[in-house]
Amino acid sequence: MTEATCNRRDLLLRGTVAAAGAMVPGWANAAMAATQPAAMPDWTLGVGDVMADIGKQRLIRVQGRAPALTGTLCRNGPARFRRGATASGHWFDGDGLIRAWRVNGDTASLAARFVDTPKRRLEEKLGRIVQPGFGTPAGPGAIVAGPDDTNPANTHVIAAGGRLLALWEAGSATALDPQTLATQGVVTFRDDLAQMPFLAHPRIEPSGQIWNIGSGGANAYIWRLSADGRFEAGQTIRLPMASYMHDFTATARHLIILCQPWVSDQARLPFSQSMSWRPERGSRVLVIDKDDLTRRREYELPPLFFFHLGDAWEETDGTIRFDGCFHNDPDFAVLGAPGLIAGRYEHTEKPQLNLVTLHADGRADIKPAGITAEFLRSAPETAGLPRHQTIHVGGYRPDRPFARSVGIWDWRAGRNDSFDFGARQLVEEFVPAGRHLIGTTLNLDTRATELHVFDTRRIADGPGVTWRSNVALPLSFHGSWVSA
Ligand SMILES: [Fe+2]
Repeated sequence: MTEATCNRRDLLLRGTVAAAGAMVPGWANAAMAATQPAAMPDWTLGVGDVMADIGKQRLIRVQGRAPALTGTLCRNGPARFRRGATASGHWFDGDGLIRAWRVNGDTASLAARFVDTPKRRLEEKLGRIVQPGFGTPAGPGAIVAGPDDTNPANTHVIAAGGRLLALWEAGSATALDPQTLATQGVVTFRDDLAQMPFLAHPRIEPSGQIWNIGSGGANAYIWRLSADGRFEAGQTIRLPMASYMHDFTATARHLIILCQPWVSDQARLPFSQSMSWRPERGSRVLVIDKDDLTRRREYELPPLFFFHLGDAWEETDGTIRFDGCFHNDPDFAVLGAPGLIAGRYEHTEKPQLNLVTLHADGRADIKPAGITAEFLRSAPETAGLPRHQTIHVGGYRPDRPFARSVGIWDWRAGRNDSFDFGARQLVEEFVPAGRHLIGTTLNLDTRATELHVFDTRRIADGPGVTWRSNVALPLSFHGSWVSA
């Protein structure tokens, strides 16, 4: 057996076992009606169910003037959590719904279509949530032969090679038609790499070249794809510890892998229950040369938990910097996010914006910005290159989950240019579109999802234009601006 097949088998095994979940019902699988009772908190509109695909609808412009912008904001996120008397046990486990927000000057439209996955097909047929996931135990009738049987394709969507790729983190990418959003099928980049994990957060160079990681315990598979999404190279590497990995980052020359001390070290299931918080181990940063993956160095950081990092950059003296949204512990992943589907809000610590500096002499430090932030983005044209601004959502408050503001933090000036949508809006990730930011919110008063465009130079002025749909979509995770 070659090292490659051994590693692949190990990665697949880990993914499959993790995905298989416990075959006993957990607290999170308690019966829950598909329609939420009126007593549910208002924010639960953000974790409601979409019952069917949404045909193209024209949006109503409710304020402002549209800039000269043509393209599609493609977004992905879970949108079906309940079937019959069963429910997903975790926010991360609902079926992926691809939303296409098309903008053409003054007009805008919305269409949305579920990714047609084996998980969704099986659960449609059974009328129950049965497939295990990040925090959902398997139910009676679950079928788990490999990671893609449980793949909800619900975390991110990118465009590459004339198609959309709906991404999860523990299985394959799923290809979609960019016009119809019809599912074309899971992507097998090479036969011997079928069903290998492919994170939802690839790092894409300005040239379009795509780097990604397949995470599997203390091993990780490094993917390198061309700008049109074809496999170019791959290699298994060893990590300092078997950290949970949702994201990594990169400079123009290096891959930066932040290993947090939430580690896979036991056989408890489902996946989130197999991890242990080991703060005494601290965090490690692995810096790998893109041109030679055997050339690596490590830095030490205090223990931290994170989902998302910003793009990294390297300065002329060799200093590497990147920002991230850090927690003190994994309580949100383990306690906070699972309860949301049942309408239960466990107050957990909010993510804090921080800047990590890796000094050329081997030291590393973390500097807090002093604001809450999530879903960091920066201009794709300068990915991996020096920058000082970070797009984010924020304004997290103790009284409810989800963000209420969007902003651009300036590390050089120590200033946040932000706009607070207020308590009656749930704010989703905003992404750059040239000199604009585009993103969506869920308006709790009108019970409708809205599309907003900001001028990046004047975020505090509010959106330059807002369109409204006629549907309340549950909150999405990530997406891409695809200019026409
Ligand atoms: Fe993410």
